[in-house]
Amino acid sequence: MIKLGIIGAMTVEVKTLKQQMSGMCVSKRAGMEFFDGHLDGLPAVIVQCGVGKVNAALCVQILCDCFGITHLVNTGVAGSLCAQLDIGDLVISQDAMYHDFTCHALNPNYKVGQIPGLDVAAFPADDLLVRCAESAAQKIHPGHVRVGRIASGDQFVASKEQKSQIVSDTGALCTEMEGGAIAHAAWRNKVPFVIIRAISDKADDSAQMDYPSFEAAAAERCANVTQCLASQLKNAE
Ligand code: ADE
Repeated sequence: MIKLGIIGAMTVEVKTLKQQMSGMCVSKRAGMEFFDGHLDGLPAVIVQCGVGKVNAALCVQILCDCFGITHLVNTGVAGSLCAQLDIGDLVISQDAMYHDFTCHALNPNYKVGQIPGLDVAAFPADDLLVRCAESAAQKIHPGHVRVGRIASGDQFVASKEQKSQIVSDTGALCTEMEGGAIAHAAWRNKVPFVIIRAISDKADDSAQMDYPSFEAAAAERCANVTQCLASQLKNAE
């Protein structure tokens, strides 16, 4: 039986999903509120983890240890790293990695994102969740969905120089601040995951202007995809 953990970093990313939950029990750990109940009939826990990689990883560990989740989704907004991805478009993770982790100076064989001792640099998302998320995304915003890599770091990316560095280091479609850590923590716990993101800005010199204008609509679209995914998983059971 599936129990879906759903993580968003900010209020705007989780607020409507919380409103859709039924039979909720709320508890607090590490300063985060966990809403444990049902979403479209599927057992689910929704939580706002806060911005950044450490918050995200902590949250995954709590979901695994204390709430018995079997599957994990991260929903939220992202900056586009590719010309074909416009504001409002949707990205589903094939895999996720860090763009701000490097041990290159220690050993030039270490690529960006590669963590010494781990045999993967990009953490693969679960095939079934990716397929379900992609079909949910196509229902919500037909023709505006891409599946590919997501690159995360503890930085809001807002310059074309930084953007092109991240693209050449990672080949990712979009960038945000939690997905890589959620993928990493899920991978270590052997919990299948997928990241669903909607584009709020282009991660270049226009990002500071665009982000506040498009954040809410993008977050809402992504939450709708997540809800649609939950309902598909419920029907697949
Ligand atoms: N989330 C949304 N836009 C972003 C950006 N440009 N950089 C990092 N995280 C983001």
